[in-house]
Amino acid sequence: MSLEGKVALVTGAARGIGREAALVLAAEGADVGVVDILPEVEATAAAVAKIGRRSGTAVFDVSDPAQVHEGVERIRRELGPIDILVNNAGIVNNVAPIARMSHEAWQRELAVNLSGAFNMIKEVVESMAARKWGRIINVSSVGALGGLHNQVAYAASKAGILGLTKTVTLEYAREGITCNAILPGLIATPLVTAMPAEIREGAVAMTPARRLGETAEVAHLIAFLASDRAGFLNGTEIPIDGGMRLNFGALGSRREVRETWRRP
Ligand SMILES: NC(=O)c1ccc[n+]([C@@H]2O[C@H](COP(=O)([O-])OP(=O)(O)OC[C@H]3O[C@@H](n4cnc5c(N)ncnc54)[C@H](O)[C@@H]3O)[C@@H](O)[C@H]2O)c1
Repeated sequence: MSLEGKVALVTGAARGIGREAALVLAAEGADVGVVDILPEVEATAAAVAKIGRRSGTAVFDVSDPAQVHEGVERIRRELGPIDILVNNAGIVNNVAPIARMSHEAWQRELAVNLSGAFNMIKEVVESMAARKWGRIINVSSVGALGGLHNQVAYAASKAGILGLTKTVTLEYAREGITCNAILPGLIATPLVTAMPAEIREGAVAMTPARRLGETAEVAHLIAFLASDRAGFLNGTEIPIDGGMRLNFGALGSRREVRETWRRP
């Protein structure tokens, strides 16, 4: 499954799933550009270099098209044209019922989680098409399937990712580009370990595997989707959730979860 000779670009690579994806892609042979709003992403670039691959760093906000253009251009100058794009940067900005969610919180989550992926794809897709090969992996969430209590902006942004993914496939599959969405359940990252313990434990109890997922498990799925072996997988939405979605109807409608999540 070698990715040798390919250039990958991973957003949100300072930590969590994005950092692990950058390292696994490098271990599979890709040179990797890493992007984050946090300068700590430099450490991921250093870890990629330690694996023996070329790395490039750009610190920018994926929601800002001008910053995206400038930052991607910088990575391209360092590493060459982008073959693999992993749209992983994402935020949970606000946990509140709709009536108490501010317009600003709604707009920010949509801007980062959905428009960020759109901005990045716009920046690289034509050059992938010109070279007749490209891989785009968008990180959605199982929350896209069933909605998420008190997280309407997040759930809507992650559902939007599915429409974005399928449309890229319709428009670009004939150019040798695949675009797939992965839908993680609860994965052990800073985003999740910062959650109140009772929420996390409740979610684990709803997961048939009865555990959190590991970032490495998600990163290996990303690396597979980035490879030639996954060339006929296109426009898909792949849950990686230990079966959590099978109980999804119940998640967030359980009384104790609802009460906790409503706490200001
Ligand atoms: N961890 C989970 O259980 C889980 C579940 C489902 C989906 N996801 C999704 O997986 C992705 C990664 O999640 P994670 O748990 O590793 O989160 P994380 O918070 O640990 O990492 C997200 C990274 O994105 C970066 N980022 C945030 N806003 C940005 C912006 N505007 N521009 C550039 N970078 C930005 C952050 O600085 C951070 O480094 C997210 O899209 C998240 O929604 C995570």
